[in-house]
Amino acid sequence: MSTSVNTRLVHFPFVFFLLLLLPIDSNAQTYKNVSSGSSLTAGDADTSWPSQSGDFAFGFRQILQDNQFLLAIWFDKIPDKTIVWFANDADENHGEIQIRKGSKVELTTDGKLTLNDPQGNELWSAGKAGGADYAAMLDTGNFVLGSRSSAESLWESFKDPTDTILPTQVLKVNGSVYSRETKDSYSKGRFRLRLLPDGKLVLNVAAYPSSSEFLYDEYYSSKTDNQDDSQKSGYEVVFNQSGYIYVNLRDGTKMFLSIKDILPISDVYHRATLDFDGVFTQYSHPRSKNGEQVWSTVWSIPDNICVAIGGRQGPGACGYNSYCRLTSEARPYCNCPPKFSFLDPNNTYGGCKPDFVQGCQLDDWTEKRDSFELETLYSVDWPTCDYEELGNYDIGECKTSCLGDCLCDVAIFRNRTCWKKKLPLSNGRDNGDSSMAALIKVRKTNLSEPICYIPQRPDEKNDRSKLILVGSLLLGSSILFNFIFLARTLYLNSLACFSKEKKPREKSPDSSVSRSSLRSFTYQELEEATKGFKDELGRGAFGIVYKGLIKEMDSTSSVAVKRLDKVLQEGEKEFKTEVNAIGMTHHKNLVRLLGFCEEGQQRLLVYEFMSNKSLADHLFENSKPDWKQRVQIALGISRGLLYLHEECSNQIIHCDIKPQNILLDDSFTAKISDFGLAKLLMTTQSRISTLTGIRGTKGYVAPEWFRNTPVSAKVDVYSFGVMLLEIICCRKGVVQEKGEEDMKAILTDWAYYCYSQGKLEYLVKDDEEVMKDMRIFERLVMIAIWCIQDEPSLRPSMKKVMQMLEGVLEVPVPPCPYQFNTHDGSYSEPDYV
Ligand SMILES: *[C@@H]1O[C@H](CO)[C@@H](O)[C@H](O)[C@H]1NC(C)=O
Ligand SMILES: *[C@@H]1O[C@H](CO)[C@@H](O)[C@H](O)[C@H]1NC(C)=O
Ligand SMILES: *[C@@H]1O[C@H](CO)[C@@H](O)[C@H](O)[C@H]1NC(C)=O
Ligand SMILES: *[C@@H]1O[C@H](CO)[C@@H](O)[C@H](O)[C@H]1NC(C)=O
Ligand SMILES: *[C@@H]1O[C@H](CO)[C@@H](O)[C@H](O)[C@H]1NC(C)=O
Ligand SMILES: *[C@@H]1O[C@H](CO)[C@@H](O)[C@H](O)[C@H]1NC(C)=O
Ligand SMILES: *[C@@H]1O[C@H](CO)[C@@H](O)[C@H](O)[C@H]1NC(C)=O
Repeated sequence: MSTSVNTRLVHFPFVFFLLLLLPIDSNAQTYKNVSSGSSLTAGDADTSWPSQSGDFAFGFRQILQDNQFLLAIWFDKIPDKTIVWFANDADENHGEIQIRKGSKVELTTDGKLTLNDPQGNELWSAGKAGGADYAAMLDTGNFVLGSRSSAESLWESFKDPTDTILPTQVLKVNGSVYSRETKDSYSKGRFRLRLLPDGKLVLNVAAYPSSSEFLYDEYYSSKTDNQDDSQKSGYEVVFNQSGYIYVNLRDGTKMFLSIKDILPISDVYHRATLDFDGVFTQYSHPRSKNGEQVWSTVWSIPDNICVAIGGRQGPGACGYNSYCRLTSEARPYCNCPPKFSFLDPNNTYGGCKPDFVQGCQLDDWTEKRDSFELETLYSVDWPTCDYEELGNYDIGECKTSCLGDCLCDVAIFRNRTCWKKKLPLSNGRDNGDSSMAALIKVRKTNLSEPICYIPQRPDEKNDRSKLILVGSLLLGSSILFNFIFLARTLYLNSLACFSKEKKPREKSPDSSVSRSSLRSFTYQELEEATKGFKDELGRGAFGIVYKGLIKEMDSTSSVAVKRLDKVLQEGEKEFKTEVNAIGMTHHKNLVRLLGFCEEGQQRLLVYEFMSNKSLADHLFENSKPDWKQRVQIALGISRGLLYLHEECSNQIIHCDIKPQNILLDDSFTAKISDFGLAKLLMTTQSRISTLTGIRGTKGYVAPEWFRNTPVSAKVDVYSFGVMLLEIICCRKGVVQEKGEEDMKAILTDWAYYCYSQGKLEYLVKDDEEVMKDMRIFERLVMIAIWCIQDEPSLRPSMKKVMQMLEGVLEVPVPPCPYQFNTHDGSYSEPDYV
């Protein structure tokens, strides 16, 4: 009896000792030691020290084309090789160290980690002389300097964070994380995340540029400081091994920064980064190569940075004279008012400047006063910086007051009050309150650039609704020029518009065609199946589609045979490669390709037959599907598109989403057709005409087709948005009618107008089914408005769209879709359609 007690007593300290050893021991397991005297040279082929598992690496990374390097730690197994730490100059406000090719990092024999330029001058160092015996890149992403004589590390990258923290990393009191300047610049940016001595975690904006650190009011606080009860205050921020981030309070409780469920560390990598836009974000990335190789947002703070950064100090989230709009991803999107442009075109977060000379700077203001006009931005406000407040004014009086006053650069009108403001404007944001208007005073110019149709909103006095067309690109005076321009941009953009390879194909095209179980038909077989191409089902940009009957085993089945009339001449391989890519797609909401024929000049594709024709055949006819079916159809299309964009091995951008290309099967399931074909049609002669054909009617085409900018999968999101409106409203995107109905001609404009006026019932006047379900209807209209944003980056991804349709994601209030914003009709020459 007594002996057993004794043994326990003896064992207890031993077990305790083992426990103490355990973390150190497990660390040793994952060490991959770098011994004294080892070094890496920037620009050499093998310039990193990986961790044992290979998840992380320490070494040099080239950041710009011109021989600039970072000494960094990064995720080494993912395609992005995301940087999580970089050597920075703590003394200099400018955090980046200029590292040229030939610079060398070395664990010196006297125990310091030093970074020297090619001439041997020290740029940076860690640890101290006589210290470290070894260095190691740990599997947690922590780079440590250690010594044989001590269990404590001498230096850790975890204790000197830059913009990112990782699981197992702890931020102590006075610890801080700072943002980078821009996505591509590793200089110190404007934002700070700090744990203050009183125990709260805060986000601040720093005055910029400035030689000493001056911080404005915090724009986020964990509120874990407690003046009355110090036990309730925080003392460290922990990113625990399972990926949860919380503030540890002195009484042993935790304050979680987010209560979101976290995916297990065995499946995903985690990181939390104070991004250059000021949003502190936890991200996850699949470890497996099969998952989508991107970082997705788990949660972020603050919820709305556009509003959170405010107060009387500083420029706001977007810089002076700019205004901030929250994207569906809770990111700030910065915009300049009309006739203003970004101070630094490479940095949209750096504020805007006017492109014209202000009134009072003119010698002859009284003569020139007529050359100014007001542009209206609805729901935009710069809440501070007014010099005059005029009560009981109507909007006309507010406009007159600002136009007549050379000091007035902007007037905000709301609730019969007129606030006059001077530049620079700060804390600009779009607050979604369309009962207010910002009137921006600008120099008049000749209308030539703006491209979009904008329904004028009725102001208080002038309640006549009319559609104003501002300098339409297509209807403008110089039609020939426009055509050439259009053709050129379409040609350039067309290069982006086919299946994009995400990774190199492993198999040769030939072998994979057979593997994708596509049947190869002879021309004669298809000629017989279609009875000599008699029964025409339809005509499209790609050629004519015929109905056919194919015998297989004992049964016969209906098929649709598409005879391509303009096909790439350059070789069979291309055809097979593309057909193969299409053949590899398998999704409930895509039309299946069954086989193909390639004989001489003949190129035919054989698809499964869809008995209920296309969505266009039903939507705009009497046989329109009921409301529930229409919602299901929309959802189905979003799933099919998501599959094309993100889930098949090669991304496919459809480029021609419209109801004519959505087919319906027996049970009215929506199936996308004609995907992946753009590339097959690129003969030199037919390119332009074909692509002009492909882009369909004006209504569906994303605005970037007309700009000289690359197109992405977001063009499909745009077209989907237009089509979603058509599906829920059962009308065409563009209706050519004259007179009173002008305003309704363009569905996207009309829908936004109705939405912004809170008059959604205008859109579905005759549809009683929908009238009973206005909540869902409003939700779908909001999703559509997100999709039809002029600015592609504001449009949600297809995944988000689908999640919003499914009701998994909230739908935030959408901004006005027109990037170049509302043009005030009363001061310009309107052009009527
Ligand atoms: C790394 O170096 C330290 C000190 O020399 C040593 O104690 C440790 O066992 C080494 N670890 C490995 C995995 O080599
Ligand atoms: C944090 O910084 C403040 C001000 O520099 C200092 O007074 C305080 O001792 C520091 N606290 C810790 C725990 O380092
Ligand atoms: C991390 O925190 C979460 C939430 O409190 C907890 O469920 C999990 O067990 C913790 N993980 C570790 C490794 O401590
Ligand atoms: C913007 O970036 C481009 C390419 O990096 C560079 O050539 C140009 O000088 C930059 N412009 C400004 C104003 O910094
Ligand atoms: C508008 O102003 C009036 C008087 O100044 C005030 O009583 C009212 O609450 C304001 N309405 C709104 C919506 O702000
Ligand atoms: C508009 O164009 C006309 C004719 O080209 C020119 O005379 C006038 O100065 C222009 N106005 C502005 C504000 O540029
Ligand atoms: C769809 O097709 C099935 C089978 O051909 C047919 O019975 C049904 O009536 C069709 N539905 C509509 C709305 O045309």
